Amino acid sequence: MRVPFVAANWKMNKTLPEALDFIEQIRGKLPAENNVESLICAQSLFLSQMMTAADAEPVKIGAENVFWEDAGAFTGETSPKAVASLGVNYVLIGHSERRNYFRETDEMVNNKVRAVLRNGMKPIICVDETMGQRESNEKVHWVVSQVIEALKGVKAEDAAKITIAYEPSWAIGTAAASAQQAEDGCYLIRQTIADVYNDACAEQVRILYGGSVKPSNQAALMAMPSIDGVLVGDASLDPETFLELVNYDA
Ligand code: G3P
Repeated sequence: MRVPFVAANWKMNKTLPEALDFIEQIRGKLPAENNVESLICAQSLFLSQMMTAADAEPVKIGAENVFWEDAGAFTGETSPKAVASLGVNYVLIGHSERRNYFRETDEMVNNKVRAVLRNGMKPIICVDETMGQRESNEKVHWVVSQVIEALKGVKAEDAAKITIAYEPSWAIGTAAASAQQAEDGCYLIRQTIADVYNDACAEQVRILYGGSVKPSNQAALMAMPSIDGVLVGDASLDPETFLELVNYDA
């Protein structure tokens, strides 16, 4: 049984005081981890103090990106080893905004996935799909190839530590995919994992949907058989809405 997973992606939003105030506003109001696992991914600048502030709470704190080397002459980059040393468990990798704005390639994503695993953390691999690819039916090629490339060199036992987020960029910050559209994308990802490894491994990997998730559409999405959770942008920035999302009625 895969534990439902509600993850926030704050992107480049909030200041450190706002982030710490958010933690105070949700303190004591979160579900037990074995009911719903909750996670907030924030700017690396905040992680140390957010980890301390959230220490006694069942919410986890994650990073939004790391580099693929642990140390060296990579000005401005963030070391996965340094992030792991804070006690961070999860790292978003390959978000469509990084693939689009910063030209992150499948190879870079794969390097980062292996660096996150090497440092004892769990990658959340974001898989994109543009409307153009969807309409041209390249979805099978595009979504499938991103999963295959991201998992290159990753052993089955490590793949089980991975979460994959189907985040069609045509649904980010606009109108969410329908529950069936989201299910189709997540099912395709689960089938791809089964093809790359085996059915048992595919059953262990949690697959999230991301793209304009709100409390109003969350239940329908999470009722779908291939969807284990959601990765939420804008709606996760408000503490009351975040609490609605993590305390949803399964
Ligand atoms: O990573 C999740 C994010 O891209 C979704 O953003 O604002 O559509 O929930 P939003």
